Amino acid sequence: MLPILRTLCVFPLISFGIAQIACIDEARIRLHDASSNGDDHEGHLHGEIDLQPEGFPPLRALEDNDLSRAKAELGRYLFYDSALSQDSSMSCATCHKQEFAFTDGEALSPALHEGTFTKRNSMSLTNVAYTPFLTWVNPTITRLKNQAAGVFFGEDPAEFGVTGFESEILGRIETKTIYQQLFPPAFPYDENPWSYENIFIALEAFQMTLISNQSPYDAYISGDSNALSESAKRGLILFNSERLDCTHCHNGFNFAGPVISANTANVEMEFFNTGLYNIDGEGGLPNGDLGLAEHTSEPYDIGKFRAPTLRNIELTAPYMHDGSVETLEDVIRIYARGGRLIENGAHAGDGALSPYKSVLIDGFEITESEIEDLINFLTSLTDEKFISNENFSNPFEG
Ligand code: HEC
Ligand code: HEC
Repeated sequence: MLPILRTLCVFPLISFGIAQIACIDEARIRLHDASSNGDDHEGHLHGEIDLQPEGFPPLRALEDNDLSRAKAELGRYLFYDSALSQDSSMSCATCHKQEFAFTDGEALSPALHEGTFTKRNSMSLTNVAYTPFLTWVNPTITRLKNQAAGVFFGEDPAEFGVTGFESEILGRIETKTIYQQLFPPAFPYDENPWSYENIFIALEAFQMTLISNQSPYDAYISGDSNALSESAKRGLILFNSERLDCTHCHNGFNFAGPVISANTANVEMEFFNTGLYNIDGEGGLPNGDLGLAEHTSEPYDIGKFRAPTLRNIELTAPYMHDGSVETLEDVIRIYARGGRLIENGAHAGDGALSPYKSVLIDGFEITESEIEDLINFLTSLTDEKFISNENFSNPFEG
């Protein structure tokens, strides 16, 4: 392959003093497997990192993170290691479990200190390598390594609670035999590779490998016409239809908002208010959540969030940014109604009438059997190989 000499840079908003420049140098896409130079560790998984997953565009290259199996493997250990949290109670996997496509089944997740919870619903890490703006609604987090840093040092609420315990926690990692083995091949040019920056880089490398492209739907589009039931095929047509308009926001190979890959020149962010709430008839959300407006201070951004991937959606209930919708059937009925009606209680209000709702959420007619078809299509996006892939599973078990 000829190197394509094109460098792409994305300059997202600058806030909280975090300026990030994501530069994608397509010429640098290459496989760099440091561990293949005879430095094998028995029991660790090997094999090349697939930078061109079948059916998907090639992964973007990261200027400071050449993917290697050694790095991803280190990242896998770190992802499952609770020694990284202040009281050794919590790892990334506490809230991102493989069996649930890396979510946790909770509406909001218990955070470090008793009685505290994450502000929003834990997100699936399915194909997160392609997500240009991470988390439900933060337009400033464009790299997985920065997202990981927030878990370590964030205070609202504290997750790993590393602030004030920096050297103690790094010491725990540095002194474990397994990391004495895993860091040097992951960072062959660093004399002293045990650093937070390298921990974030390795976690990023591991998460870049969390590719899900082997669902029945994928088999169907690559030519196996029996991979989907007749009902799921009808559901796919409905999903793509003008009437339902799901693809307006959940589009492309990842059934999500905009993606970033080696092929994308510009990624514009997109966020939408889907009419879930209308507290006091003023478009308010519970707990003063503002959605995108929290970052932009623009009233018209109130209650806007990112359209997440629908791959593995069967496994990631409850749904929406606050986990307030229990089932896929409920999700579909809310869209069909053009917004959610909450009749009683503190959150009462008709989301369909929210002044901030997207004009694209205008409701549609749908029959009971069509709802069933649509659900059968959505569940055909479940990738059993993704949730059983040993490259992604807990290395401390089995
Ligand atoms: C206490 C629960 C919890 C822990 C521990 C946790 N996460 Fe999360 N994660 C969440 C929640 C909640 C969100 C959604 C955050 C938001 O939008 O405010 C999230 C979002 C993410 C996202 C964004 C996904 C996307 O599609 O944008 C990534 C990536 C992620 N977490 C990775 C990690 C990593 C890596 C770790 C360990 C360093 C970790 N998480 C630890 C709860 C957790
Ligand atoms: C106007 C853009 C838009 C349209 C049209 C749209 N969605 Fe969404 N979708 C979103 C956004 C934004 C979210 C997250 C909203 C939130 O959490 O507040 C979402 C969330 C979801 C979720 C929950 C995802 C999760 O991880 O919790 C499902 C399921 C879903 N949509 C399915 C559909 C289906 C099916 C259709 C067509 C009937 C559809 N969407 C149409 C933007 C849209």
